[in-house]
Amino acid sequence: MTRKEIAQRIIGARRRASTEEVRVFAPANIALCKYWGKRDEELNLPVTSSLSVSLGHKGTEVQLSAGAQSEDIRVDGRPLAPESPLHTRLRAHLDLFRPAQESRFRLHIANNIPLGAGLASSASIFAALTRALDRLFGLELDPAALSILARLGSGSACRSIHRGFVEWHVGVADDGMDSFAEPLAGEWPDLRIGIVMVSAAAKAMGSRPAMRQTQRTSKLYESWPLQVANDLIALKEAIREGHFTRLGETAERNALAMHATMISSWPPILYWLPASVESMNKTWALREAGHEVYFTMDAGPNLKLLFEERSAAPAKEAFPEVDVIAPFAAADSR
Ligand code: PMV
Repeated sequence: MTRKEIAQRIIGARRRASTEEVRVFAPANIALCKYWGKRDEELNLPVTSSLSVSLGHKGTEVQLSAGAQSEDIRVDGRPLAPESPLHTRLRAHLDLFRPAQESRFRLHIANNIPLGAGLASSASIFAALTRALDRLFGLELDPAALSILARLGSGSACRSIHRGFVEWHVGVADDGMDSFAEPLAGEWPDLRIGIVMVSAAAKAMGSRPAMRQTQRTSKLYESWPLQVANDLIALKEAIREGHFTRLGETAERNALAMHATMISSWPPILYWLPASVESMNKTWALREAGHEVYFTMDAGPNLKLLFEERSAAPAKEAFPEVDVIAPFAAADSR
């Protein structure tokens, strides 16, 4: 099954003439239980379910129109080099919706998070682009269909279609029509996510080849699905009951388990820099001192701290550069 066939099946005859220009925002998301490993590389079908929280106002705004002279793709004000991997992926996503082979898009992408630094920017880019294409062509797709199409661009993008806590269902179907994300009930107004930027440089290895290498060579990967199954139960319970300790401990353990599978692959994959480890030690020292601060990490060297408002002062004191996001604050729910 190809991506083109799936997109065709979803979009079908719904496409109308494009409107002038659309502007759409989608939030980045941070997984509390990670997606690591694919059962289908073409369709970005995962080995396990995963669970994330959206980052409120941090993410991507996409401006999109059709009928351009030539494809014009810009990221944060600069033309994107046609030979860059992101350009190729964006064009492939546009191709899924392109009305005719000769039609060209003008796509301007504005991120307020650093690109490719393990801050899930591809998730918000492909979620915003999918929503923009839906609006541009008047498709009026339901959230599950939008989530499936976003997943074809980047796996974790299927979660950025929603706000708040989101679960991406693993699904069992070969065509992936049951592998999409849905929002979970539960708001957590006091929850804070602190971005600790260790390095804004693009990561050495993208998540796609890193997942492949882990799945093929890590002995520890065998235990990953069981880890995820248990962590999903614990996280959903923690969200339902507002039990922060359970949430923080589970998220931190899940992230470390994911990194353990990477470190034990061959050749080894280590995204951590010395400053990442220093920041982990600082987080553990905060907990020793009685402040409930936890961390999670993705395919990069940066940490995302998890804490509640009551621990904001000690967290900021330990990490003066931390960028604090309130995912459930009213001002963030654009
Ligand atoms: O969707 P991708 O290919 O960018 O992979 C995301 C993988 C992690 O960020 C490490 C985990 C996750 O669930 O977001």
